[in-house]
Amino acid sequence: MTKLDLDANLHGTVEVPGDKSISHRAIIFSSIGEGTAKVENCLLSDDVLATIDAFKSMGVNITIQGKNVIIEGVGLYGLKEPSKPIDCGNSGTTCRLLTGLLSMQAFKSMLVGDASLSVRPMKRVTLPLKQMGAKINTSMNGTLPIEILPAKLNKTPINYKLEIPSAQIFTSLLLASLYCNDASNIHCDNNFRDHTQRFFKFLNIPLSYNNHTYTTQPIKNFTNQDLKVPGDFSSASFFIVLGVLTSDKGIIIKNVNLNPTRDALIGMLKKMGADITINHLSDSSYCEPVADILCKKSALKGSEFSFPETAIAIDEIPILAIACAFAEGLSIINNIAELRVKESDRISAISKNLNSINIQTSENHDSLTVFGGKIQSGTIKTYRDHRIAMSFLIASLVAKTKFEFDDIEIIKTSFPNFFETLELIYE
Ligand code: S3P
Repeated sequence: MTKLDLDANLHGTVEVPGDKSISHRAIIFSSIGEGTAKVENCLLSDDVLATIDAFKSMGVNITIQGKNVIIEGVGLYGLKEPSKPIDCGNSGTTCRLLTGLLSMQAFKSMLVGDASLSVRPMKRVTLPLKQMGAKINTSMNGTLPIEILPAKLNKTPINYKLEIPSAQIFTSLLLASLYCNDASNIHCDNNFRDHTQRFFKFLNIPLSYNNHTYTTQPIKNFTNQDLKVPGDFSSASFFIVLGVLTSDKGIIIKNVNLNPTRDALIGMLKKMGADITINHLSDSSYCEPVADILCKKSALKGSEFSFPETAIAIDEIPILAIACAFAEGLSIINNIAELRVKESDRISAISKNLNSINIQTSENHDSLTVFGGKIQSGTIKTYRDHRIAMSFLIASLVAKTKFEFDDIEIIKTSFPNFFETLELIYE
């Protein structure tokens, strides 16, 4: 079932698919921009396909040509009412970003999702959007389904303090602010991924940052640009840890996005003793900085991690916990409460699955302690969470021990060719 070669030595060169956060944004911005945009090396996983289908259902012509996506933008006011609910599948990014955009449209819409997405918190976007005059109905506890009623003209700008450092909330509000009748201000520190800020700059949409405040201006339109998406650092992280834990000759991951608001895992692993070499590339064809990353087998020592590195590495905590399980001594990962509301309660999912393979852990609301040890065979529950599935598949390969997985299909939400990519480094 797991399609892993547990006897293989691992080394060689791989490339991972395009970045998920950038791919979602490329589809969203290009759909509401003017003119045609070609998005090269776009991730075509279930999550991004959900975003593509959403815009197709609102009248945007989108064509997939190999790894490229061609989008014929309809302009800020060109989207049409979808004839049925928009299915966001497992994708929190699709759901939260679209809630912001749709709450400012003159038509009615409805957002639904799978069982995992349907229990994730949405008030974090719906409450501030309501302050901007959006008319949104959710379930009693603020979760999906989300019904959005047509917005009035002259929407109220927002003056909002972002309490949770979340790029999804920030982007949702920024998309909505484009439709307001005056400048909006979002007060926050720069401690979340900055892809949206980079898109504003790239597309010449006004956005300033002073005194911990982002200010947007209402606009009438913007012009689309072609772009090339670099490899996803979060997808690369599975191969980084695999290289560090197993590969004498080394694993190279090529053309990975090395955005400083995403790459904290490198420093965290180095702190544990990892042998990682970064070769920054001056390839300006990509929309963000890229590098080749060489990872070689290293003896890891347990360590302690805290904010802000744990916030920057929030999507990599599951695979970091696997590195900690193979390290000597204990590791403490602090300030990770947000992990409890990701595709699963990841603190609990990591902890229970590590216990099942003989690794001791302790958890409290916002931290996880992992005691390095000897991994044994066990049963892994993935909780419809792609990163839990891939992290424990890597643990199985490193330990050369078979685990029983309940469901690994969910990997397709972010990394559809995960197994094919692994096959490239089997010797
Ligand atoms: C994402 C932001 C992060 C991240 C998610 C993708 C994005 O979530 O965990 O996988 O593309 O904006 P939060 O913004 O909720 O932290």
